[in-house]
Amino acid sequence: MPKGIEMEEVVESRSTDLSYTRKEKESLRRVGIIYGEVGTTQFTFSVTGNVEQGDYVQVLHEKFGWVLGHVDEIKRKTNLSVEKAREIVFGKDMDVKEVLSATVVVIGYRDSKGLLQYPRIPFRVGTMVYLAQDSFIKKVIGIKEIKNTGAYIGRLYRYRSIPIYLDINAMVQKHVSILAKTGAGKSYLTGVLLEEFLKHRVTAVVIDPHGEYSSLRFPAKKSRMHDEFKVKPKGHASKIKIFSPDVELNEAKPLRFTLASMTPRELLNLMNLDARQYLIPLRKTMDLLKMSRKYFTIRDIIRLLESEENNNAGPLIAQLEYLDEMRVFDKKGTRIDEIVEEGKISIINLRGVPPDIQELVVQRLSMALFELRKRGKIPPLMLVIEEAHNYAPQQGISSATKILRTIASEGRKFGLGLCIISQRPAKVDKNILSQCNTQIILKVTNPNDLKAIGNSVEGLTKGSLEEIQRLPVGVALVTGGNISMPLFVEIRPRETKHGGESVKVV
Ligand SMILES: Nc1ncnc2c1ncn2[C@@H]1O[C@H](COP(=O)(O)OP(=O)(O)OP(=O)(O)O)[C@@H](O)[C@H]1O
Ligand SMILES: [Mg+2]
Repeated sequence: MPKGIEMEEVVESRSTDLSYTRKEKESLRRVGIIYGEVGTTQFTFSVTGNVEQGDYVQVLHEKFGWVLGHVDEIKRKTNLSVEKAREIVFGKDMDVKEVLSATVVVIGYRDSKGLLQYPRIPFRVGTMVYLAQDSFIKKVIGIKEIKNTGAYIGRLYRYRSIPIYLDINAMVQKHVSILAKTGAGKSYLTGVLLEEFLKHRVTAVVIDPHGEYSSLRFPAKKSRMHDEFKVKPKGHASKIKIFSPDVELNEAKPLRFTLASMTPRELLNLMNLDARQYLIPLRKTMDLLKMSRKYFTIRDIIRLLESEENNNAGPLIAQLEYLDEMRVFDKKGTRIDEIVEEGKISIINLRGVPPDIQELVVQRLSMALFELRKRGKIPPLMLVIEEAHNYAPQQGISSATKILRTIASEGRKFGLGLCIISQRPAKVDKNILSQCNTQIILKVTNPNDLKAIGNSVEGLTKGSLEEIQRLPVGVALVTGGNISMPLFVEIRPRETKHGGESVKVV
C-alpha cells in the first residue's frame, strides 16, 4: 500500500488541532492535514479540501503562531499497480485507494518587529492546513499598495484581489530585466510599465527595433478585463516622442548623428572593410575636412576621396555610399535634449534599420545619455532596450556592449536605469543581467535559458522553476526591488494599444 494512504490514517487519530479560536476556525477553509516527515522549510499534507498548486496556505504553529506557506507541488498517490490496472482493463472490479498529497514550501511569519521569520521547530504531524486569507498573505509577503511611487503591473496570480506594485525608484536605480520566450508577453508588459512611468512622470527612452511602441499613443479596445483590473483605456499621444534614422519607412522625427564626433576607426567598424588598408586614407581625408570646416558629411568624404589620384579607395567609397544611404549621419546631429524630455517617453524606432546601424544608434545614444545624465543636463531616466541580446550579446561583439555594461554598473549613481528585454536570457551579457535587481520572467522553455534563470533568481523553488515552463501568456514571475520573494503576477490589461500583435498568415 502506498505510504500516503497509510499516513493519512495515522494522522487522523492524532489531530493536534486544539489551539484555534472558534471564530478563526469558522472563517478559514480547511484543506488538509500535515503528515509524514516534516521539516522547518518544507512539509507535506494530505489534501482533504479544495486546494491547487500555487495556492497559499496558512498553518497555526504551536509556538510561533500563524505561518504562511506556498503549495509547490500536488501528487496523487494510489495503491493501483500496473498489474492491477491491467485487470481493470479486462473488466475486473477493483477497490482503488488514493490520496492527494501536497508539498508546501514554508514562507514564514512576521515577528513582533515585523521581520520575516520561519519557524525553527517543525509543525506537528496532524496540524490542520487552511487556505490563506488575503490579508495574511499580504502581511507575511509584505505586499504594499505603494500608489505614489509604485507601478501597478497587475494582481497576484490566482488572487485577483491583491494588486501588485513595483517600486519605480528601485527599478530605475537598480535596473530591470524582462525575460521570456517569444510571444510570452514581454513587449505587452513593457507597455504596461511605460504606461505607469507616464502616470508618475518618469522619463524613458525606448530602443524599439520592431516599431511596436508607437502605439502607446492610442487607447486600447475596451474589454471586460479592464473593469476587473480597474484600469481604463487611454492614449498618451501628447507624451510620446518618436525618432528614427529611417523617416521614409517610419512616421517619426529624424534621428541623426554628427559625423565629426566619430573617429575614423569607429566609422570603419561600421563597414565590411579591412581596417589596416583603409584607416590611413580615411583618417587623412577626415583630418583634411576637419581643418577646413566645422561640419561635414559623408558626401564630403566621398567627394574628396574621388578627387584624389589614388584610386585604391574604390571599396571604401562604395561602403561610404552605403552609409550615406542609411542617412544616420548629418552635419548636425539630433540634440539629446531634444530627444529626452522630462515626463515623456521617447521611442527610437529602428524598424527597417540594418543591424550594424542599430548597434551604432544604441551605442551613440547610450553614451550621450550617460554623459549628459552624469552632468545633470537631462532628467533621471530609464533606458529600455528591446531585443537586448543583439546589443549586449554574451558571445560575439557589439559596439554597444561596453557602454551598456558601464550603465549597468554605474548608472545607479546617476539616475540612469536600464530595462533589458530579451527572448534569449542565456545570450545576454551576464555582467549586465546580473546587475538587474528587479527581474520579471514570463514563460521560458529553452533548457539553457531556464538554467540561466535558475542561477540568477534568488529564492526560486523547484516548483516555481517548473511552473515557469507552463505559464499562460501574461503571467509573470516577479522578484526584486520591493518584492522580497518571487511572486507570480497576472499582468493587468494595457490602457494603450499593444503594437506587437502577431501577423496572421492565413
Ligand atoms: N498580459 C497580457 N494580457 C493579454 N494578452 C497578452 C498579454 N501579454 C501578451 N498578450 C498577447 O500575447 C501576444 C504576444 O505578446 P508580446 O508581443 O508581448 O510577446 P513578446 O514576448 O514580446 O514576443 P517577442 O519575443 O516575439 O517580441 C500579444 O499579441 C498579446 O495579444
Ligand atoms: Mg516583443
